[in-house]
Amino acid sequence: MQPIEIKKDIFWVGCVDYDHRDFHGYSRSPDGSTYNAFLVQDEKNVLFDTVAPWRAGVLLCRLSKTLPPEKVDYIVCNHMELDHAGSLSEIVECVKPEKIFVSQVGLKSMQGYYAGKNWPVQAVKSGDIVNIGKRNIVFQETRMLHWPDSMISYIPEDNFLISQDIFGQNIASSARFADEFGDEGKFARRIKEYYYNIVLPYSPTVLKALPLVEKMDIDMLAPDHGLIHRGPRAVRFIIDMYRKLAEQKPQKRALVFYDTMWSSTEQMAYTVCSGLEENGVPTRVMSVKNNHHSTVMTELADCGAVLAGSPTHNNTILPLMAAQLTYMKGLRPLNRVGGAFGSYGWSGEGSKQLQEHLSAMNVELPCGPVKCNWRPDYEGLKACRELGKSVAEALRKKCD
Ligand code: FEO
Repeated sequence: MQPIEIKKDIFWVGCVDYDHRDFHGYSRSPDGSTYNAFLVQDEKNVLFDTVAPWRAGVLLCRLSKTLPPEKVDYIVCNHMELDHAGSLSEIVECVKPEKIFVSQVGLKSMQGYYAGKNWPVQAVKSGDIVNIGKRNIVFQETRMLHWPDSMISYIPEDNFLISQDIFGQNIASSARFADEFGDEGKFARRIKEYYYNIVLPYSPTVLKALPLVEKMDIDMLAPDHGLIHRGPRAVRFIIDMYRKLAEQKPQKRALVFYDTMWSSTEQMAYTVCSGLEENGVPTRVMSVKNNHHSTVMTELADCGAVLAGSPTHNNTILPLMAAQLTYMKGLRPLNRVGGAFGSYGWSGEGSKQLQEHLSAMNVELPCGPVKCNWRPDYEGLKACRELGKSVAEALRKKCD
C-alpha cells in the first residue's frame, strides 16, 4: 500500500476496490472501481477527497507512508457522495485539519451527513483561490455534475485538474494512468458505461462545463474514479469523448431490448432486428433477463434507435421491462427514434404501455406498437419486420 507520486510532490493515496459492484443501481464493471484521493505537499499539505467508508484504513495507510497524517493541513471535499466523503469522520479524526474546503451546497450535505461535528469547514465558490505555498488551488463549482455540491480543483502551477466524478471510469487495476492500462477498447467502453449510467442526465450541463475546462491549461486530469489522463493527447481525448457523449448525435445503430414469457415476444424481437438490419441498421438484441439494466443502458450509447418488447402480463408489462424502462427514463437519453412490440393472450395492452414509456422519454415513434396474439403468425412477423423497417427509415432521416 504505497503512495504513488504522480507529479512532483503530488501523490495518489486512494484505493482500488476490486469487490464493490452496486452503485445506486448501476452495476459497476465486473472488475470493481477505484476511489482516487490525492495529497499535495507544499507549505500547506492538502488532501483532496477521501475514499469509501469501508476503505478508510487503506487511505490512512498510504497517506502515512508519505507524511504523518496530522501533518495534513487542509482537506478539500470536491463531492460529498459517500464513495468520496464517507470516510471523512475517521480521516478528520486522524488528521485534525486546520481547514476543510467544500462548496457552498456541499456544506449543506456535510451538515446533513455529519450533523453535530464541529469541524473547521470553509465554503468556497467558483473562482475562489487558496494559496498553499508555491501553489494555488482554484475552485470551480460544477453543479449537477453530478450532484448539486460537485466542484473541481485546479492547480495551475502543475497544470493539474482534479475533476471528481467527471471524466471517471469504473476500473479496478494496478495501472494508475490510462496509458498504462493496455486495453484501449475496454478503457473507452468503461468511460461510456460510466457516462451512460451516471452523467447522462446532465449532458446539457456537461456541454456548458467543457469550455470552462478547456480554458484551463491541463496536462494531467485526475478523476476520482479509475485511471488518470496524462499528457495533452490523453486530456484532449477524454474532453472530446465527453463532448461526443453529451451531444448524443444520432448513430445508425439500434438497440432492441425485451423480455418474454413463452418465446413469442423473443421471436418478435429477432424479427424486428431483421427488419432493421435488412434496412441498413446494425442491431443489438438484449434480453433483460440475461443483461443487467446498466449493461443495456451502456449499449444505448452507440444506438440512435431503441425498441422495447414485452408480452402483456396481468394487464401490464413484465417487471424486468418496467425496471429497465424506469432506469432508462431516469437517465434521460435524448434524440432517439424507436418502437414497441409484444405478444398477448387476451387483454393485450402491454405494447401500448411500452410505447407510452418510450414517448415519455421523447423517443420519436414513427409507427404504432405491434402486437401479436398468442404466437406471431406470418402476418404478425411481417408487421415486426415492417416496424424494423419504419424505425430504420426514421433513423436514416435523423442521421442525414
Ligand atoms: Fe463517485 Fe458521485 O460519487
